[in-house]
Amino acid sequence: MTTVLLKGVRKDYGSFTAISHIDLDIASGELVALLGPSGCGKTTTLRMIAGLEIPTSGQICFDGKDVSEVPVQNRNVGMVFQRYALFPHMSVEKNILFGLKVRGTDRAEAEDRLEQILDVVQLQDFRHRFPAQLSGGQMQRVAIARTLITNPSVLMMDEPLANLDTKLRGEMRRFIRNLQQRLGITTIFVTHDQIEAMELADRVAVIFNGNLAQFDEPDALYKHPKSVEVADFMGATNVFAAQIKDKTATLDFGVLTFDAPSQNGTRSVMLRSEAIDLHLDEPSDAQNVFRGTIATRDFFGANITYGVSCGRETVQVTEQSRRVIDVGQDVWLTIAPERIWVIQETD
Ligand SMILES: Nc1ncnc2c1ncn2[C@@H]1O[C@H](COP(=O)(O)OP(=O)(O)OP(=O)(O)O)[C@@H](O)[C@H]1O
Ligand SMILES: [Mg+2]
Repeated sequence: MTTVLLKGVRKDYGSFTAISHIDLDIASGELVALLGPSGCGKTTTLRMIAGLEIPTSGQICFDGKDVSEVPVQNRNVGMVFQRYALFPHMSVEKNILFGLKVRGTDRAEAEDRLEQILDVVQLQDFRHRFPAQLSGGQMQRVAIARTLITNPSVLMMDEPLANLDTKLRGEMRRFIRNLQQRLGITTIFVTHDQIEAMELADRVAVIFNGNLAQFDEPDALYKHPKSVEVADFMGATNVFAAQIKDKTATLDFGVLTFDAPSQNGTRSVMLRSEAIDLHLDEPSDAQNVFRGTIATRDFFGANITYGVSCGRETVQVTEQSRRVIDVGQDVWLTIAPERIWVIQETD
């Protein structure tokens, strides 16, 4: 089991800075997702942890030892890529054994590990097939097996599910999570899909423009983003400018009382669309009540999202589709003080 530490890591390519500054402290056996838009530096970060790139400055430590200058073959890391690059002329078992062969592992030991790993990834019945005779999910499992058989102390995956369809992605996600927990292997998983990151990871590192924007547990990231940019990336729809004074927020369409820690001044307030309740009659004893009119309605199966006009703003409200409210209907909105989040941007 291995801890991974990044201290002030920076990476320049000539005059271009791909990573400005990243600190990460990954616990042994933890699954961390690197999440961010295309070009933000996820692959670069992963390649530095693997030893495929040397940081321009900063330190990378495995189990407290500085490995910044240690080449990839001496770091004992396993990499799984989006394009799994299996050898087409080799059977499943030959593909899986390949990594051990190049390392010169003893044959009996290699056979032994092959049996174990085929069980782990549930590919016993496919061992004599060739890659062209496998489904996308099975190929991905061969790619994972090929990496795991070398017993890496850190497993790294760069968008390994990007080529798979939605249903299979879901299955593979659960498969990877389950496998990772059983083996207890420290894992770093790159994705630009926030749902995937939240579903898989113990903690998520959000990277924008070569900087670490936030490193938190999925629930904290979703409910308590540290910046408007993170809130937006995590799919928040209601972020409004507000004047904060002593636990009250004055918005364009009303005054809210809240519990979250905050400083006075101009801030952004986030109201999660599912944290707001819709009422057809005026609630008598609720806090934070404001009036609006249903302006839009979007139906997504189990849920409906309404756009509710409140003054000059539109507030998005999501509820279960057990009832359907018509556009034009006057409604009241309520939100509990503990479900209001004030974004403390440090600028
Ligand atoms: N070898 C290189 N030389 C110069 N620039 C590079 C090199 N590798 C990456 N970059 C640049 O560094 C930035 C970060 O690239 P990186 O591949 O880490 O992004 P990413 O977050 O993995 O994106 P994606 O989601 O599209 O894979 C990009 O602007 C990229 O063009
Ligand atoms: Mg990438």
